[in-house]
Amino acid sequence: MSHLLRRRDLLNAGESNVVTSLSRKPPSPMSYPRVATFKTAEEFLERLAELEIDLPLDPVLPEGSANALAAPLTSTAGKIGNRFCILPMEGWDGTTDGQPTDLTRRRWENFGRSGAKLIWGGEAVAVRHDGRANPNQLLINDANLSSLEELRTLLERRHREEFGNTDDLLIGLQLTHSGRYSKPNSKTRMEPRTGYRHPILDRRLGIEDDSRMLTDSDLDQLIEDFVIAAKLTEKAGFRWIDIKHCHGYLGHELLSGFDRPGKYGGSFENRTRFLRNIVAGVKAECSSLKMGVRVSVFDFVPFQPGPEADRTGRPAQTGEYMYAFGGDRTGQGIDLAEPVQFLELLRELGIDLVCTTCGSPYYNPHIQRPALFPPSDGYQPPEDPLVGVHRQISVTALIKQQCPEAIIVGSGYSYLQEWLPNVGHAVVRLGMVDSVGLGRMVLSYPELPADVLRGQVIQRKKICRTFSDCTTAPRNGIVSGCFPLDPFYKSMPERELLVQAKHPTQM
Ligand SMILES: Cc1cc2nc3c(=O)[nH]c(=O)nc-3n(C[C@H](O)[C@H](O)[C@H](O)COP(=O)(O)O)c2cc1C
Repeated sequence: MSHLLRRRDLLNAGESNVVTSLSRKPPSPMSYPRVATFKTAEEFLERLAELEIDLPLDPVLPEGSANALAAPLTSTAGKIGNRFCILPMEGWDGTTDGQPTDLTRRRWENFGRSGAKLIWGGEAVAVRHDGRANPNQLLINDANLSSLEELRTLLERRHREEFGNTDDLLIGLQLTHSGRYSKPNSKTRMEPRTGYRHPILDRRLGIEDDSRMLTDSDLDQLIEDFVIAAKLTEKAGFRWIDIKHCHGYLGHELLSGFDRPGKYGGSFENRTRFLRNIVAGVKAECSSLKMGVRVSVFDFVPFQPGPEADRTGRPAQTGEYMYAFGGDRTGQGIDLAEPVQFLELLRELGIDLVCTTCGSPYYNPHIQRPALFPPSDGYQPPEDPLVGVHRQISVTALIKQQCPEAIIVGSGYSYLQEWLPNVGHAVVRLGMVDSVGLGRMVLSYPELPADVLRGQVIQRKKICRTFSDCTTAPRNGIVSGCFPLDPFYKSMPERELLVQAKHPTQM
């Protein structure tokens, strides 16, 4: 297969799952033209051609029901009125006991008024305290149940006010244990619970022995905790749960526990036991709750900043790397054999909702959320972020092609900026994905789906320009939100703290 994935390859692919995916062009740090400078579709397409990537783009979007993004879908979980999905976006803004605050409620109301008919999980909600990614992450338990239910009803009410009905609005809740990235008690103290000993990530977290590893009986207990959380989710009126398997958190890490001993490590069957047992428990205990899975379908070796002057991301190790689920042994290639097997397993389990994403925001953010400006704990992009967008879209198309029965939601589109609707329309029209997921864009421009579906002109001043402040803020103990563009966050006192965190020398 060619070095680069091309659309025609995708449409004809099938024989090989192995692709390599870095652009042939040597990266030239910080010289990537801003997307906002491309004034016409031709200029944008010229840039894609320069990068030797082939993204489909529909320059003019059809109106009304002829618009591919307006077409409904039906999942086993219910009706989905259009092809926009709001991806889970947490705000690091819950109370320390895991309840939503006004900021959380505002975000969920924005999800409701977006016009998207699929809400993928809202945001990560921990199934128990030790698995919270930060002391302000939402937590599901009896005490917090009514406040989580309120999030759902607020979202629905806002949606109904704006669009008249909620019959075809499908809302799930993302359930998680943050595993290696747990930080339940203090914003500055990691309390990792890992799936296996990882040579690079353990070093980064100061882990020196096996004491942080969850034992088989710890995982047996955690499965029960997921099932209890699922029952509560059903009680709170959500139609489905996302059993999170992405971004380096526990579910995802277990998928690459190739050398973990015992019943949760080694073979594909063992590495998916965690998922399978949760699913079995939920089916036994919940009368109507359905399930979906958000999964990092490929992964790379961890990256790190290069030498001081350039800080361009580079792999933390060269040579053989064995811990990338959906990756190959080079640490920067893709092998979709196991991810496809994973989707086949989901189908056997009766799960049709799948959201594809990749990597981790902690150790290779450039592949997961392509951005021109890195977060404070990141590195300068080692490739034009459009290459990263293309990689996620292409891989998702390959997966969709091989697993056509699944309803597949894609991620990583925000960097397309003004071209998001045009590329989104084309990928849905061509059957490369079923639904276009919106992450960072929903923070800056929540009503983008509604504007697109009404045929209105895009509001350029609201378009996410990937400044990464929504990640830099929480990395510095501040709530997340769109500080550069959302007037509400722009005027918050926290914005000043963020500016100081980004430019400490100016204090
Ligand atoms: C501030 C912020 C919060 C996020 N919260 C979650 C989350 O709770 N759960 C999750 O699965 N992904 C989360 N993500 C990842 C996004 O859902 C999405 O995959 C990513 O931003 C790439 O999509 P985009 O290009 O549309 O932003 C978060 C990302 C950001 C920037």
